[in-house]
Amino acid sequence: MKIFVAGSTGVIGRSLLPKLVKAGHEVIGMTRNAEQLQVIEALGAKAIVADAFDREGIIEAIGEIKPDAVMHQLTSLSNWSSADNARIRMEGTRNLVDAAKQAGVKKIIAQSISWAYEPGEQPATEEVPLDIQAAAPRKTTIDGIVALEEAAAELPDHVILRYGTLYGPHTWYDSKGAMADKTRNHELPATDGITSFLHVEDAANAALLALDWPSGTLNIVDDEPASGTEWLPVYAEALHAPGPEFQSGSNDWERGASNAKARKYGWVPQYPTWRSGFAQSLK
Ligand SMILES: NC(=O)c1ccc[n+]([C@@H]2O[C@H](COP(=O)([O-])OP(=O)(O)OC[C@H]3O[C@@H](n4cnc5c(N)ncnc54)[C@H](OP(=O)(O)O)[C@@H]3O)[C@@H](O)[C@H]2O)c1
Repeated sequence: MKIFVAGSTGVIGRSLLPKLVKAGHEVIGMTRNAEQLQVIEALGAKAIVADAFDREGIIEAIGEIKPDAVMHQLTSLSNWSSADNARIRMEGTRNLVDAAKQAGVKKIIAQSISWAYEPGEQPATEEVPLDIQAAAPRKTTIDGIVALEEAAAELPDHVILRYGTLYGPHTWYDSKGAMADKTRNHELPATDGITSFLHVEDAANAALLALDWPSGTLNIVDDEPASGTEWLPVYAEALHAPGPEFQSGSNDWERGASNAKARKYGWVPQYPTWRSGFAQSLK
């Protein structure tokens, strides 16, 4: 298959490109930054410079390439701005989907998140509605997710991957990442809020497999949703950092997510739980 990867230089993209190439696909990676062209090519893909906010540019690029599938791994998280990230989810996805439609592309795999569900006691399955009643500032994230998922679903074949909180190389939880710094500086309290984690390699693997999955929405998370009081001491220990302070309470939407559907589809995480995964990825 000829596959166009938007977000090819991000944490997931960098892991995904070699997997797609190894599986025999022709891969074209997109970046805004000419300096990244060689990085993409070194991963075995062709590379183009384009900006997701440049609507005409994206339409032209995808129109020339005419891929069989578009991978949407665009985020704008490097500067921690949920507004920037919502903008790329709304405008970036709109432009990408319109460009795909005009080029006759039928298939899209899109990156979403698994913590956008309504509040509840249990880890959320895909049937739980998104938290569209959320108040600001969470509303910004939810609005972005709703727009992204609705736009992606306009293509006849669409798989939406609702990823857990990423850890592993180059993520915020890497030894040089922001969460590691906060943990070492004792700035991150261990709360009762539940998180579902996901190793970046497992995220990329799901995107590869999703090329053969039917249209739909899947949580891609590890097997063990856990409260901060459980996972943060394990993460701190893996970092050789001091143990966290405990703070009771949580946001009502911090419920984690179930991976039962993805496992039924044949996705098997290499890192089934953060309990061993943190130490393995911080070696
Ligand atoms: N589920 C999760 O928990 C999750 C998911 C994703 C990221 N994160 C966190 O966020 C941190 C930053 O993520 P990241 O390193 O992937 O970087 P990022 O800054 O979020 O960028 C991700 C990708 O989107 C592309 N992109 C962004 N804006 C674009 C635009 N206007 N036009 C075209 N492409 C655009 C970037 O390409 P260029 O910059 O090359 O143009 C890059 O390939 C990570 O360390 C990770 O921990 C978490």
